[in-house]
Order: sequence, then structure tokens, then C-alpha cells
Amino acid sequence: MAAWSPAGNGVDPGAIPLRRLYTGATLPAIGLGTFGSDHATAPMVAEAVLGAAAVGYRHFDCASVYGNEAAVGASLRTILASGISREQLWITSKVWNDKHAPDDVIASCRQSLSDLGLDYLDLYLVHWPFPNFHPPGCDVTSRSASAKPYIHENYMKTWRAMEKLVDTGLVRHIGTSNMTVPKLRLLLRDARIKPAANEMELHPHFQQPGLFEYVRAQGIHPIGYCPVGSPGRPARDRTPLDTADTEDPVIVKIARRHDVHPAVICIKWAVQRGQTPIPFSTTPRNYLANLRGVVSAPLSDDEMREIGGIDRNCRLIKGQVFLWKDGQSWEDLWDVNGEITPA
Ligand SMILES: NC(=O)c1ccc[n+]([C@@H]2O[C@H](COP(=O)([O-])OP(=O)(O)OC[C@H]3O[C@@H](n4cnc5c(N)ncnc54)[C@H](OP(=O)(O)O)[C@@H]3O)[C@@H](O)[C@H]2O)c1
Repeated sequence: MAAWSPAGNGVDPGAIPLRRLYTGATLPAIGLGTFGSDHATAPMVAEAVLGAAAVGYRHFDCASVYGNEAAVGASLRTILASGISREQLWITSKVWNDKHAPDDVIASCRQSLSDLGLDYLDLYLVHWPFPNFHPPGCDVTSRSASAKPYIHENYMKTWRAMEKLVDTGLVRHIGTSNMTVPKLRLLLRDARIKPAANEMELHPHFQQPGLFEYVRAQGIHPIGYCPVGSPGRPARDRTPLDTADTEDPVIVKIARRHDVHPAVICIKWAVQRGQTPIPFSTTPRNYLANLRGVVSAPLSDDEMREIGGIDRNCRLIKGQVFLWKDGQSWEDLWDVNGEITPA
């Protein structure tokens, strides 16, 4: 792969806005998601990582459960061999739910490092706060026989192992994902190393203003997943009440005005609002359009306000498989009453 050159059709990585974490470290304000789910194989995702780096992406959101870290790692090796330095990249990975035991956290991180071909990760996240295993690709009715609710004492054992990863230099920052305000309050009370980022679902129809403002006030950077509204997610992850951000008349109208795909407006809104979106794409013109969206003419204040007004509180990734007892609703996973749902 050729290193990025100004003569190419990409975006100068130096022009992409940076986010500053509480440690002073910076990361690019857009990353490429790598969860291929049912529709993109590991080779397809690996190819997209290469192509995305060639047009200017420097931030990649990975996870062991995506089942493609070895393939993504082969692309990262090529990228690094092309002259892009390790310091210019921002690589995130995540520990999966069946690896919450402290020794497993360390082993899983080492495995991700080995697969990705790296000697440190920029950010390592606890993927979900529930230690419940279910096989990738399973139906939303699937439940783990040993499913457990959030138990803070246990989460802290996992977090201590995460802190150790920072101490030993395998990881530069640690963070959370799929958390709620009451869970984060406990973690912030007890953590020796505070989370640097929280990865959370964020798109125009699911703006999570309460959690978004809370993490920012705590100096935790919000990374937004499903920024386009995950139009390619499998049927099993859809419900009749789900809405489509890219079909919203406000998004469509603004997209026409800017002469871009509605997905690009979702990305522009995300970056201007202050979160770091991590759109998935294996289509070169789409991932390039998303990157260009970050450096082209910004949305106006009126457009930002208009998009701020179309929140539908429509959570797409409901997490049903993490429920721990019969008769529960997925809302129980998200502490919607402001308190951790009792066991
Ligand atoms: N922490 C967590 O628990 C968690 C959960 C879910 C996701 N994530 C992360 O977030 C990433 C993104 O989430 P996601 O893939 O579910 O949703 P997404 O990024 O909102 O949507 C991806 C889909 O949008 C399409 N797309 C992207 N840009 C487009 C454009 N400019 N024009 C037209 N279509 C466009 C892609 O199609 P093409 O491929 O054809 O472009 C793909 O089907 C994942 O890959 C993963 O890294 C994390």
C-alpha cells in the first residue's frame, strides 16, 4: 500500500480534527468501525482497513469478538510497513464478556495485541458490563445459562486487571462501553485509573443527552457507535419500532443541501456535537465520503439545532442477550430509572 500522498484522492490526516483525552493524548475525531457482523467477512474488513488508511483514516475500532483481528492485523502490518508510524495510528480493542475474570482480561488483551501485530493498544475497553457469554450471531432470544446482572464488585475485579494493563504498558488508555450513569458513578468512585472514553450508541435518532453530558462533564470522551444508524444490521437485531436516521426528512433535506449522502450528515453532526463517530464501511466511496464530511463545510448552527430536535430515543443495539432472568425487558439493561436495575 502506498502511504497517503497529497496527490491522491484522500484527506490529509493532518486536517482531521483531534480529540484530547484527560491524559493529554489525542485521537482522530473519526475512526473506522470493523464489526463486519453477518455481511462483511474478515477479508472484506481487512481490505477496508487498508483502503481507509490509504485515504487518510488513522483510527480503527476493533474488538476480539468481531472475529477478524488477525485479518485486520495483517492490514495494520502493511500500513506500518508503508511508512505510517505506530504513533500516527489510534487502535482500540475490547475485552469480550466471557473474559471478565482478571487473568482472562490480561490474556485476551495479549491475544488481541498478537492478532493485531501491535505491542500496545491506544485504548482498551470493557465491551459490555455484563459477563454473559452468548455465541456470536445468535438470536436475540438466546440467553447464557449462567447469566448474571451487573455486580459492581465483579466489574471492579475486571477493572483492576484493566488498570494493570496500563501499569504494564500493554495499553495506553482504558475505557468502558455500553455503560449507564449509575454504573459509571460507581466506577468513578472506585477506579484508580479513570476511564478515558466511553463507547456508546449515538446517532441522530438516539442522542442519549443525559449520558452524553454526564461523561463529558466527567472528562470521559464519548465515542459513538452506529453513527449512521447501522442500516446494514441483521434482521434479528431489528424491531418494528426501530427508525432509520438516514431516512429522516430533516437529515435528507440537509443532505440535499450539502449534496452528500444522508449518512455523511450523521457523521458531520456527530463530529460537530463533540463525539467521535466510528462508522463501519467496506465501500470505498462511502468511507471516503464520511472522512471528507469531517473536513468539508460544517453544518450551520440552525442545521445542528434542527438535528438536535429529531432525537427519537431509538436504541438499536438493545442487548437482549445480556438479560439475566426471565420476564425482563431490555430496558432493564440500561438503568432507565436512574438506578442500577436490582438483581
Ligand atoms: N461497543 C459496542 O458495543 C459496539 C456496538 C456496535 C458497533 N460498534 C462499533 O461501531 C461500528 C459502527 O457500527 P455499525 O456498523 O453497527 O453501524 P454504522 O456505522 O452506523 O452503519 C454501517 C452501515 O452504514 C453504511 N454506510 C456507512 N457510511 C455510509 C455512507 N457514507 N453512505 C452510505 N452508506 C454508508 C455501511 O455500508 P457500506 O459498508 O456499504 O458503506 C454499513 O452498512 C462497528 O463497526 C463497531 O466497530 C461497537
